[in-house]
Amino acid sequence: MEQEGEEEINDSGMEEEEDGADVVQFHPAFTYPIYGEHERVFGYKGLRINLNYAAGSLATYFEVEYAKRIDQMESSSAIPLKPDNVDEPMRAVLSTEAMCQTREEFAQCVARDTREFRPAGRKVHEYEEQSKEQQSGEGIRYEIYESAFEDAEFRKYHQRMQTMVLFFIEGAQFIDSGDERWRVYTLFERLDLGGTVSYSLVGFCTMYRFYHWPDQWRARISQFLILPPFQGHGHGSALYRHIYSAVLADPEYADLTVEDPSEAFDDMRDRNDMRYLLDHGAFDAIGSAPVDSKTVLELQHRFKLSKRQMTRCLEMGLLRKIG
Ligand code: ACO
Repeated sequence: MEQEGEEEINDSGMEEEEDGADVVQFHPAFTYPIYGEHERVFGYKGLRINLNYAAGSLATYFEVEYAKRIDQMESSSAIPLKPDNVDEPMRAVLSTEAMCQTREEFAQCVARDTREFRPAGRKVHEYEEQSKEQQSGEGIRYEIYESAFEDAEFRKYHQRMQTMVLFFIEGAQFIDSGDERWRVYTLFERLDLGGTVSYSLVGFCTMYRFYHWPDQWRARISQFLILPPFQGHGHGSALYRHIYSAVLADPEYADLTVEDPSEAFDDMRDRNDMRYLLDHGAFDAIGSAPVDSKTVLELQHRFKLSKRQMTRCLEMGLLRKIG
């Protein structure tokens, strides 16, 4: 519902555009961290708040458009009506570095980006997606990079990237980039167009290392996001599987846990963990419920999963046997 002078600003969904230009538009799932719990801005007619990002470098151009503002409209009220400040709350969560001042400057950034931007960090994995539309030939490549905040270039990149967590992860907050225990995984789409290689950010995951008694680390996924245009194509699964296999292969890690997972994340994780557990015969030696705690603990250690996740998967594994 729309009210005069008051704009509803939260509209999840995605549309692809526009006039042949290579622009993808999508809307935030949440705006309350910026514009308050009602997710409304008062005092404008035809308000549009546009955050323009270059797909790779995330160079940013922020613009606010509206048809009319309430203090410019005729009013019978004796009390002067003041429109909400749209600009400041948004700028407070944007990185000032790589911020373009004009649309022209932004267009130049995008053109440069397409030719020159390369992801920061160490490439740790790549895979190919063969879409149904592509009958033959090469698919699009995707690359996963691992970074730490000691890398100054990456720290700057993360400042641009982190705004997204407020828009798409419920209850998310910025993390402390001064803490060296963070690892960040970024996932990029790599397009090779006639010799010009260009990258677009697909998603990312922040992971923290906790001390695990006596001489190991516990890895905890803190923020996990696949940008809306890329969701539902298996990229979240690919990123999660890479992180899980890295933890499994590294003797320094005792297990992989997740901070406050959303339902969608749990769903994606369950599918991937179940596939891995079944492929590795985790439930083969287990007959039926109840399963004793020693067996659960052994499975937990072997597959480096938390008790909660191991129990969930075990339940699904047992149900599969009945079904
Ligand atoms: N084509 C179409 N659908 C596919 C394909 C494909 N090639 N591959 C997988 N899918 C389906 C899966 O079967 C699954 O189906 P479901 O909807 O029935 O569950 C679904 O797509 C999701 O699997 P993925 O594609 O691997 O997941 P996605 O890339 O969409 O990532 C995630 C999932 C991370 C939850 C993403 O949607 C997202 O970022 N959401 C918003 C933010 C969020 O909730 N993040 C997690 C917060 S919790 C935390 O941060 C710790």
